Amino acid sequence: MEKIETTVFKSPQEGSAFVAQEVINVIAENNKMGKTTVLGLATGASPIKFYQELVRLHQTQNVSFKNVVTFNLDEYYPMDPAAIQSYHYFMYQNLFNHIDILPKNIHIPNGLVDIKEVNEYCESYESIIDGYGGIDIQILGIGRTGHIGFNEPGSSPKSKTRLVTLDKKTRTDNAKDFTSEDNVPRRAITMGVGTILKARKIYLFAWGDKKAEVVRDSVEGPKNWNVPATFLQDHPNTEFVLDTSAAQELTRIKTPWVNGVCEWNNENKIKAVCWLGLQLNKPVLKLTDEDYNQNGMGELVAQIGSAYELNLSVFRHLRDTITGWPGGKPGTQEINTPERAEPFPKRSLIFSPHPDDDVVGMGGTLVRLVDQGHDVHVAYQTSGSKSVHDEDVYMHLGLFSDLANLMESDSSKSADKVKALKKYLLTKVGDEATLNLVKKFKGIIRRAESASASKFCGVNESNMHFLTLPFYEKNTLSNLAFDQEDVDIVVKLLQKIKPHQIFISADFVNPQGTKRFCYDIIIAALNQVKAEKWSKDCWVWMYRGAEQEWQINETQMNVPLSPDEALKKKQAILKHYSRKDGSYFTGDDNRDIWKKTEDKNKHTADVLNILGLPEYEAVECFKKLNWR
Ligand code: F6R
Repeated sequence: MEKIETTVFKSPQEGSAFVAQEVINVIAENNKMGKTTVLGLATGASPIKFYQELVRLHQTQNVSFKNVVTFNLDEYYPMDPAAIQSYHYFMYQNLFNHIDILPKNIHIPNGLVDIKEVNEYCESYESIIDGYGGIDIQILGIGRTGHIGFNEPGSSPKSKTRLVTLDKKTRTDNAKDFTSEDNVPRRAITMGVGTILKARKIYLFAWGDKKAEVVRDSVEGPKNWNVPATFLQDHPNTEFVLDTSAAQELTRIKTPWVNGVCEWNNENKIKAVCWLGLQLNKPVLKLTDEDYNQNGMGELVAQIGSAYELNLSVFRHLRDTITGWPGGKPGTQEINTPERAEPFPKRSLIFSPHPDDDVVGMGGTLVRLVDQGHDVHVAYQTSGSKSVHDEDVYMHLGLFSDLANLMESDSSKSADKVKALKKYLLTKVGDEATLNLVKKFKGIIRRAESASASKFCGVNESNMHFLTLPFYEKNTLSNLAFDQEDVDIVVKLLQKIKPHQIFISADFVNPQGTKRFCYDIIIAALNQVKAEKWSKDCWVWMYRGAEQEWQINETQMNVPLSPDEALKKKQAILKHYSRKDGSYFTGDDNRDIWKKTEDKNKHTADVLNILGLPEYEAVECFKKLNWR
């Protein structure tokens, strides 16, 4: 079914390292022949790890880029190259500043070219590429619209470098760099599909769930103008480099039995039976030989013996994932429960990347852990300041200055600061000190909200840990990177609490987003404490956010919520006032966060019910991480 070669890697890191090595090999071969290597480069989140790997190879293995010429795919229009949102800025930040490429060899479309000269400019961009003999290796990402470069739906396979209008979906996706969608430029200069197809080798990176559907459509779907990436099917040497999330909709991964080739291990067995039950809207225990045969699973039934035995084993598995005791049930001898009964009470540590991820991802479970007597700690990894609107600062600032007046605690210093803040909020003009103050103010707002939410859930104030990891404060959302300083902070906390169980957010909707980095930091910290005695018996559970949930076949703990608990969870989420009004980065799904979460938890309950398990109000899902 796949019309383009696809390679699936465990992580973006591994896929990026693979392509970086391939690129380095081509450069080395060309160098031997005295030839220049011409690279076509992309921006965005997808190639960041690839660039990091090139920089690492340059710094540690003396790989040189002196003999490399680059052409970037695109640039917003209009766009000042010096602006931090420009693709110029991106390329220098992520690659060019750190390698020995000659400035004259770098080509990026100019977002400031006069509108009257754009056509001529684009033609010359195209002929400079041809002048170098064309592109040896083209790096691409893919937009959810199926765009490559900024060739949005409707682009011709023969299109050349030109000025284009950006699709609404693309502007929504790119809003994170511009604080709001309205500020995202409406146009861009991009190489054409035809320009891209002339490259001798093409690698397209796609990471994360959000790309899964467009990857499937591009690789398996019919060639069509609505999904410009499908034109890559005509290119003889294109490879899609994917992580498991981006590959999950490919038929060979989602439903391998449909292709008639499936390795029937335990994982695939559970996946197939759950899929069939949901497909036919039938409880697992009612699936028949006929159902299996008609859906390409006859071989599985033959292996197990009978549909009844197969049904029973999957039903038992699902049943054993359900528990009202996420910290283990004290005094029970049962061995099939997701968590162990002892020790009791447990020290439970919940990591929350943003200030609201704990209650969004596992608010009901959090309340249960507290109610069941465990020593529950919550660690807020980042300040979350980047998603607070200026209007919220304005409101709280008014409150602050009125209170200061009321309490007569207004010093002249604080009055000056209030004045500067107010001026910024009204005019959007302020010096660096004022901007820092705004950022801190936003962090304080979110800190107060999370303290209120976790107090509401029963967590002691002394068990709330605000880590304010520096990586989040130092970088823009498109350029996140963490270092040892961040890991050390988490290590220190782990060593202080010595938890028996840890809950971490493994929400990778945006594989370059804050949550992904927070996850990586925890994993690095855990690796560092691996040898310590307490850590040998520390279990790690992964939860997800409002946008994403584990598949029923992959969860190992399902915690049901009663209607009262579901309501309490919603109320805890609503303590996060600054996140209430469909705030930043919610993409094109405009439901409020509490609503998305409620729908998601109800959906899981429905799925279990369809498969023949009891009917619950809502269910929170967890997957165990075998981290040792
Ligand atoms: C960027 C570009 C775009 C991106 C695409 C995916 O130069 O041409 O096609 O590759 O929008 O963006 P990310 O990687 O941010 O998901």
